[in-house]
Amino acid sequence: MIRFISVNDVLPLRNTVLREGKLKPNDMRYPTDNAEGTLHLGYYIKGELVSILSLHLQPYGKFTGEGYQMRGVATIEKYRGEGIGTKLLNFAIVYLRGQKANYIWCNGRRKALRFYQNAGFEIVSPEFELPPAGPHYVLYAKIQ
Ligand SMILES: CC(C)(COP(=O)(O)OP(=O)(O)OC[C@H]1O[C@@H](n2cnc3c(N)ncnc32)[C@H](O)[C@@H]1OP(=O)(O)O)[C@@H](O)C(=O)NCCC(=O)NCCS
Repeated sequence: MIRFISVNDVLPLRNTVLREGKLKPNDMRYPTDNAEGTLHLGYYIKGELVSILSLHLQPYGKFTGEGYQMRGVATIEKYRGEGIGTKLLNFAIVYLRGQKANYIWCNGRRKALRFYQNAGFEIVSPEFELPPAGPHYVLYAKIQ
């Protein structure tokens, strides 16, 4: 089941999945986590939060219209590869389309490229380093 959740709900998973549990949940806050327009989505299985993503109203580069940056995309290890991340991502796109947003973008890890490309994202930057998570690309998908 997909739910709109609070930033405090997403912090523990951001830490365990994206920083291998090396930080504290409070260190996983992004500056626009509480900004107007920011949304946090969670996928629950039997009451357990297993996958998250956040959407921040934030333009990128030359793209026009209303753009959302997707951040903190994570599925706990035991549920990976079951299509849950894709369901959450598709829900986000359909929801943003309803909100009349024009595009969605993210800094995607090289390791997760296929995940984004399968969902229709395209690479729009050269590869760059984003410490401590290594090589990334900017990925973009038009919404409408
Ligand atoms: C990337 C991630 C969010 C995908 O979530 P998911 O629920 O496993 O996604 P789905 O099952 O819908 O999609 C599966 C696709 O994700 C990718 N994937 C699977 N396991 C992965 C992993 N451990 N790391 C990165 N990508 C992975 C694969 O491309 C897979 O597609 P394929 O089977 O055709 O190769 C999840 O694997 C994850 O949390 N990885 C670690 C953190 C991370 O890299 N987050 C993205 C930061 S940019």
